[in-house]
Formats: sequence, C-alpha cells, structure tokens
Amino acid sequence: MPILLEGLSRLEYRGYDSAGVALQKSGKFDLVKRQGRVGELRAALPKRNAATAGIGHTRWATHGEPSDVNAHPHCDDTGKIVIVHNGIVENAQEHREGLEARGHSFASDTDSEVLAVLIAEAYAVDEDLAAAVRRALQSVAGTYGIAVMHCDRPGELIVGRNGSPVIIGVGDKEMFVASDVSALVPYTRQVVHLEDGEIATLSSKSYEIQDLHATVTDRPVALIDAEAVLATKGDHAHFTLKEIHEQPDALRRVMQGRLNHRFNTAHFGGLNLEPRELMAFKRIKILGCGSAYISGTIGASMIERLARLPAEAESAAEFRYRNPIIDPDTLYFAVSQSGETYDTLTAVQEIQRKGGTVLGVVNVVGSTIARQCGAGMYLHAGPEVAVVSTKTFTNTLAAFALFALYLGRMRDVSPAEGERVIEALEALPAQMEAVIERAEDFHDIAKRYANFDHAYFIGRCEGFGLAQEGALKLKEISYLHAEAYAASELKHGPLALIDPQTPTFAIVPNDDLVKKNASTIAEIRTRKGPVVAIAQSDEIEAEVDDLVVVPISGHWLTDSIMLLLPLQFIAYFVALERGCDVDKPRNLAKSVTVE
Ligand code: F6R
Repeated sequence: MPILLEGLSRLEYRGYDSAGVALQKSGKFDLVKRQGRVGELRAALPKRNAATAGIGHTRWATHGEPSDVNAHPHCDDTGKIVIVHNGIVENAQEHREGLEARGHSFASDTDSEVLAVLIAEAYAVDEDLAAAVRRALQSVAGTYGIAVMHCDRPGELIVGRNGSPVIIGVGDKEMFVASDVSALVPYTRQVVHLEDGEIATLSSKSYEIQDLHATVTDRPVALIDAEAVLATKGDHAHFTLKEIHEQPDALRRVMQGRLNHRFNTAHFGGLNLEPRELMAFKRIKILGCGSAYISGTIGASMIERLARLPAEAESAAEFRYRNPIIDPDTLYFAVSQSGETYDTLTAVQEIQRKGGTVLGVVNVVGSTIARQCGAGMYLHAGPEVAVVSTKTFTNTLAAFALFALYLGRMRDVSPAEGERVIEALEALPAQMEAVIERAEDFHDIAKRYANFDHAYFIGRCEGFGLAQEGALKLKEISYLHAEAYAASELKHGPLALIDPQTPTFAIVPNDDLVKKNASTIAEIRTRKGPVVAIAQSDEIEAEVDDLVVVPISGHWLTDSIMLLLPLQFIAYFVALERGCDVDKPRNLAKSVTVE
C-alpha cells in the first residue's frame, strides 16, 4: 500500500481528478477510491495493510464525471476482476449495451468498467487471465495502458499497452508497473518498456511479454537515469517558478556539444541524416500539440527566415485527422515534452506509415515518441514537473534555432552570420539570468492586471507565436480568459471588444515592424484599452500603460527566447494573485495520453 500511494503521489503532477487503489489480500480485494487528491485517498485508507499485491490509478475524467464511483480501480460485476485503465475505449457504449443485454450490470459511467466486465466474460471461457485480457482487448477500439488482477490468482498481474505508456520495473523478488518512470525510481532503476499491442504477465519474481497473438517477445531491460527523474521544488514556492528559473541552465544543456565554432554552425548527434539527405528536403513541417505546437510555429519561422527553406507548423491533432498528404520531399518534426502525447504519436505513425521522414524533438529520453521516431534532437531541459511547459518551450526554440543555423550554414548563411548567431546563443543564458533577477517587477505588473476577466495578446511573425504562448500560459494557470491575435488581424474584428476592461499584452521586438506595432497599440489606446508592451527598447514607452524591456539578444533568431520570459512570469504571478493551484491547474494533465 505505501508503494502504491508513493507512486500515485509521484504522478500527481500529471493532473487528475480522483485516485484509488485495489489491494489483494486473502482471495479478495480491498477497494478504496476518492474524488480529489491523493491526500484524500491516503486519509481514507487504514494505517496498515498486509496486502502483497495491488494496483492504483489517478484518473483524469473522459467518460463520466469526476466522482468516487467513477474513480479507478474498477471491478467487474462479480467483484473478482479489478483493473486500472489509462486511455479511452471508443466502442465502450456498444460493448456496454451488449453486456447489459447478456445480464451484466455497471456501477459507474466509465469505459474502463466496461473493459473489466469484458475481461471477466472472457475469463469465464478458460480461466486463463492473460488469454482473457488478450481476447477482451482484441474487441476494443481505442487506447489503453491497463493492469488487471483476479482475486483467485494472488500475485499475478496482467498489463497491456496500446497507445498509453506501460513500463515494467524489475526489482529484487518484486515487480512494479507504472505509466511513467518517476513512480518507479524509488524502487528500481531497471525498466522494460512495453510496446503497443503487447501484454505482460507478472509475478513477484518474473515477467513474460507476449503480443496480441500470444507469441512471446523479448525486450531488453533499460536503465533509468534516476537523477533526471527525481525533481524537487527546492527553495521555490512552485515547480512552475523553479522551472522558469532553471531556463538559463536548461539552455546551456540544449546547446552543449552542439555548437561548432570552426565552421560557425551547429552539430547534432542524433538526426541520422547525412548532409546530402538533409539538403534534398524542399520543405519542413513541424507538428505538436498545445505549447509544443506553438513552439513549432516559432521554430518554423526561424528556419524559414534563416535557412530560407519553406517551413510551417500544424497542430498534430488536426494533422492526423485530416488524412494528410505525406510528401517525401518534406522533413517532418514532432515536438513533445513528454514524448507520450497521443495525438502527436499518432501523427508520427501516420507520417511513417506513408513513407515520410520524421524527427523527434522530445524532452523525455526513451519516451514513446522518441523511440517511435528513432532520430531527432533531445531537448535536455531536465524533468519538467509543473503541468505547464516553460523550460521545454524555451529549449524547443533553442533547438530549432540550432537546427536553423545548421541548415542555414549548408545553404545561404555566411560564416560571419553563423558566428553572430553562435555569439547570440552563447550570450543568452546570462542575459536570461539578468531578466530573471527582475522577477519582482513582473510581479508588480501582474498585480495590476490580475483582476481583469479578459486579455488580448498580440504580436507579429515570431511575436505572434509568443502572443499565443503568453495567452495559453495565462489561461492555463490563472483561468483568466486570454486570446492571441496577430497584431495585423486586430482591426479585422477583435478591436470591437477593446475597452478599459480588456488589457492587451503586445510583443514588440526591435525589428522592422516596430512602427507597425506602435500603430496597432495606438488603435487600442484610442479605444481606451490598457496596453502592456513587452519590448526591447523604451521607444514606445509614452504610448503604453506598462512597459517591460528585455535586452536585445544579439541576433533576431534568439530574440523570441528573451521576450518569452516576461510572459511566463506574468502568467505565473497573475495565477498566484488569483490564488490558483499553479503547478496543477484544474482539468489539465501533464501528459495527454488520450485522444
Ligand atoms: C501548455 C502545455 C500543453 C502541452 C501539450 C503537449 O503549457 O503544457 O499545451 O504543451 O499538452 O504536451 P507534450 O509537449 O508533452 O507533447
């Protein structure tokens, strides 16, 4: 029981709305589930429990509201089989109707309970639990990472995976299973990653992996880097704040070993593409979800502007559903902090299935997307625990800046220009440190805007990407409604909503478009809308209500990274002022392993 609770606590950062455990003891299960936090589950459990096997889960509601009864684990209607399930059964309703017609009943509204009953029905055929799980899963459409126990089979645990991560931890006369290595590190460093379509049978001493046709497969044991996984808040009030502060060091790591001063270019170890192959691509397309997608839009803009190769970004979720044309002349990138986002993973598989080349831009080493891509650029941002991404966003921009330099130097970028980019990149961490020192200035601004209900974020080119990220961060952690617009689009509609109660955060880099941005700001102020500018000079000071100036970074390619910092701080401090749960915003999960 303590192991299960510790594991669930370690996965709390991923976001959830209820938690529960099933403990196996003398041929029966003790099932305890609670809506709310793991702390509430802990309080509901007895202090001691002699169970030697158990399963637990933190649920993030998909089918059925968050409640005690919908929390996992779920039993079949005889109470003999118990399961936890991460994912979505798409044909649950169909199965539910069939099972009800065959006399089964359900306690919850969940798709997972349907799966438990399906397994129980299959078990009745030959009392072989692994075979029953396999048969049930063959009739299921959707995604799952599951763990299953039967009360008559003490010490036996069946796990299966399709689309949601399942990792076996190999201990000394004990076995563990989790959906994320962070739950395993206190107990073992030896792990085995299950692949889609595989089922494993575990006892305390052994494990055996089979595919959906019962063929035994061999999978190597991998060692996890425990230091990279274990993270604490240190002196910071929140992981979000800690991770914002970690960005200069994270930047140093993503650049480490990747700068080539001799030829003023970048160098990557894991792209697995010869220069000749890279030069043959005619376009670049970057895919990701949420912040990963937004970082891709900025990355695409960097690549196109510096390397002069057409580049664009698209939401991986949209891409995968629209039967995309996969062009062999396009180099695809899949961006993902967790490496587990289901929509991004499926987009990768769609590209590969159609013969395209896709590289991963991933933070978590050995994650599903990293393994599926097999090549790419790791972000080396270190563990990101807060639900919202901060340092991985920065490192994604830096990784694309490095890639733009690498590709640019193969194409038109001169050695002198390459040198300027490298100098700017190398200067960045210290410049960021200087901006981080001014955190309290951002706090003061946040206090002035924390009580508004709506805000706009505007920018042009990369500045528009930053506006989108600033608005997303604010929405996610402070629940303040924020919308991002390309500054040029404002007069085509949204200007109608500008009034004294709708502040605008304007991203104003010191580029050719400063004057254009100043005109847009004037249009807002004429309508009495308050404006906060995040700029690189005080040229527009008289024209705004609040001004944040960050240093010019040394090259336009790296300016976005500098301009991002105040946006992150403002979102954090607004959330703090509004009393929000900054690290674990409501309704959100750190890795979205469902559709
Ligand atoms: C925003 C945020 C999410 C993630 C998105 C993709 O702060 O964290 O929008 O960026 O869910 O997650 P990954 O990068 O793990 O694929």
